[in-house]
Amino acid sequence: MTSSRTYAEFFVPESETVVAARDRAAQLGCAATGSGTAAALTFLAASVNARAVVEIGTGVGVSGVSLLAGMTPDGILTTIDIEAEHQRAARRAFADAGIAPGRTRLINGRGLDVLPRLTDGAYDVVFIDGDRSEYPQYVAEAVRLLRPGGLLVMDGAFAGDRVADPTQRDADTVAVRDAGRAVRDDETLVAALLPVGDGLLTAVRRG
Ligand SMILES: C[S@@+](CC[C@H](N)C(=O)[O-])C[C@H]1O[C@@H](n2cnc3c(N)ncnc32)[C@H](O)[C@@H]1O
Repeated sequence: MTSSRTYAEFFVPESETVVAARDRAAQLGCAATGSGTAAALTFLAASVNARAVVEIGTGVGVSGVSLLAGMTPDGILTTIDIEAEHQRAARRAFADAGIAPGRTRLINGRGLDVLPRLTDGAYDVVFIDGDRSEYPQYVAEAVRLLRPGGLLVMDGAFAGDRVADPTQRDADTVAVRDAGRAVRDDETLVAALLPVGDGLLTAVRRG
């Protein structure tokens, strides 16, 4: 990473809550959302006055705490993960951050089982950070869930520099590449791929 990329990545300092959550992520072997991405999530949630957000991939709660920090004070984060242990760690991060329990709806399950149960057009932000091989399906669900003006945000869009390299054809890389193209080519969305962390694909649903 260049020095400017490193400077940008750590430009916004992290709270003690997030630092502690990162320690728990390391113990659990969970790849928490990076520092620059966490700052961007707070910014993006605040930019649309988000009250209702869906997250696929709760992890240890770094991204959840960051989204909630930008959401309205009555906003509710619905967050999905298959690993109950990760969600226990996330609950702790939410409590440490002083987030009222009623502001988080943690659903233990597979993203592709849970997302179809959520209401069309009811969400201000959908944040994708679950199973890379399921990214194309998450994108399709996200477009359905977003209100006009809502934001689709997808972490890991570079897949560790593999997406940009056409010789990389493993299943996860192909899925992330396909998901990115689907967002870019969807005429109901306006997309921008931000070089933050491992690539943060953002798109706003046209009004
Ligand atoms: C990259 S981590 C998410 C990190 C999280 N955003 C954070 O900041 O702590 C990916 C998460 O997706 C979860 N996951 C993997 N496959 C999943 C699936 N099919 N449905 C829902 N969650 C899944 C993993 O258990 C893991 O917690």
